[in-house]
Amino acid sequence: MTTSIASIHRVGIVGGGQMGAGIAEVCARAGLDTVVAESDATAARAARERVAISLERAVQRGKLDRMSAEDALARLVFTGGLEDLADRQLVIEAVTENPEAKIEVFAGLDKIVADPEAILATNTSAIPIMRLGMATGRADRVVGLHFFNPVPVLPLVEVVSSLHTSRDTLDAVETFARDALGKTTVRSQDRAGFVVNALLIPYLLSAIRMAESGFAAPEDVDAGMELGCAHPMGPLKLADLIGLDTVAAIAESLYEEFKEPLYAPPPLLQRMVQAGLLGRKSGRGFHTYG
Ligand code: CAA
Repeated sequence: MTTSIASIHRVGIVGGGQMGAGIAEVCARAGLDTVVAESDATAARAARERVAISLERAVQRGKLDRMSAEDALARLVFTGGLEDLADRQLVIEAVTENPEAKIEVFAGLDKIVADPEAILATNTSAIPIMRLGMATGRADRVVGLHFFNPVPVLPLVEVVSSLHTSRDTLDAVETFARDALGKTTVRSQDRAGFVVNALLIPYLLSAIRMAESGFAAPEDVDAGMELGCAHPMGPLKLADLIGLDTVAAIAESLYEEFKEPLYAPPPLLQRMVQAGLLGRKSGRGFHTYG
């Protein structure tokens, strides 16, 4: 049972939150046998619901016919533990953006995923791929595959190699993202934030500082970038979409790596996270959601 690169068809996803559910949806829509592992049965049910809602949205928007949506959902298995990932050829980890949580998942996957050639990928935005690779006995098969939210809509995947990632692994996941999932890939070295977040996060933090200092109201900051620069959503709406806890976690990783003040999470962001005001997923962030 070796992982021939051209034939990855058994995929596992760890975590069924907004990113994990989105990645699972895209894999299932591509016809892949996809298992989503959550922490328990309740979380697994919530992950299934997330995918079902997004598939329904795709049908309503005319992006997918109903039969294909039903087929995609039927192709997905949701489970309450990592054990069901034993026979996977590629596992994509998408748990919370916390180094300890991710290291624990990688150590667990390394024991559970039986094929030593199987690839263990991470959807991290900013945690070093090397740290995750070193939690396993197969750092050459550990790689970054970073998707963008909403995953079914945004075409980009960043492919990130650590100093240990093999050329075969890199080529395999790049081919997978491009040919199986229909995404466009860019490559990045293993530096916190990779290409997109190294540019995006300082911009989002600047917008938060603007609102924090009273320089401009959140609505005006967003309107400025939507109407003045044709961005699909302003920076504070985007921070709410990503999740303020995730924005803060990425900022902390970037700050830890580069020690640049522009990456330091502003106090307002920290307080909002402490208050449970996480953006869309909690109903309130810089804006309020019905
Ligand atoms: N499957 C396929 N297509 C879907 C879909 C689904 N499940 N759900 C929606 N769509 C399509 C819609 O059909 C629509 O397509 P058209 O424009 O061709 O009609 C498009 O997606 C937009 O959908 P909606 O009309 O429902 O929503 P919207 O117009 O309000 O746009 C948005 C919402 C897609 C989020 C848009 O505002 C946007 O792109 N915002 C920017 C998002 C962004 O920058 N994300 C990156 C965040 S950074 C990140 O994720 C990485 C990280 O590490 C933090």
